[in-house]
Amino acid sequence: MAPADILLHWYDRHRRTLPWRAAPGETPDPYRVWLSEIMLQQTTVVAVIPYYERFVSRFPTVEALAAAPLDAVLSAWAGLGYYARARNLHACARAVAAAGGFPRDLVGLQALPGIGAYTAAAVGAIAFGLPAVPVDGNVERVAARLFAIEQPLPAARPALRQAAARLGEDPAARARPSDFAQALFDLGASVCTPAAPGCAVCPWIESCAARRMGIQASLPRKLPK
Ligand code: ADE
Repeated sequence: MAPADILLHWYDRHRRTLPWRAAPGETPDPYRVWLSEIMLQQTTVVAVIPYYERFVSRFPTVEALAAAPLDAVLSAWAGLGYYARARNLHACARAVAAAGGFPRDLVGLQALPGIGAYTAAAVGAIAFGLPAVPVDGNVERVAARLFAIEQPLPAARPALRQAAARLGEDPAARARPSDFAQALFDLGASVCTPAAPGCAVCPWIESCAARRMGIQASLPRKLPK
């Protein structure tokens, strides 16, 4: 089995249940996927969950968020910090509601307020099944280890993105871009952790170049600040 097959097989058995995540067989809600990705850019999954739950009960749809006054949005965001994000969130909701829905392509997504390359890839892959691999810090770490990329961050970033994109080109990943992106997040969050990676339970133990070299815990390297 190719690494992408192995990862998807692992995900089918170990996927986390998260409030913004569609259950197997369900259609993801682009609004919830987008909202969760914006929240997760600054805050951990555990810390985001209660904010996310409160936010979607107050603004259950992108239209509801667009129709709300900015003050109400900022007050629901209170505690998450980075208020520029909440302002962009509101502006984005207005643009999406006016257009009748989220664009279903990466260029259209990235043209929206507050949506950069990462968020476009995450929403595109998770909500719309576009062939993109969103690369956050977790995915960078997984890619650095899988391919034993020893160049330090931040210089390694282009190489890590390219490595992740190549994984996403495997036919198994192409068949399930949404699950593949979420599987990478879950592997990075629950197995391929920063300090003491759980190699003994890792589906990629046989594929991992850093593990073969015994350097997995030291990757990704970082330039001293
Ligand atoms: N980190 C960033 N996006 C995530 C997602 N959709 N699920 C879990 N962790 C994430």
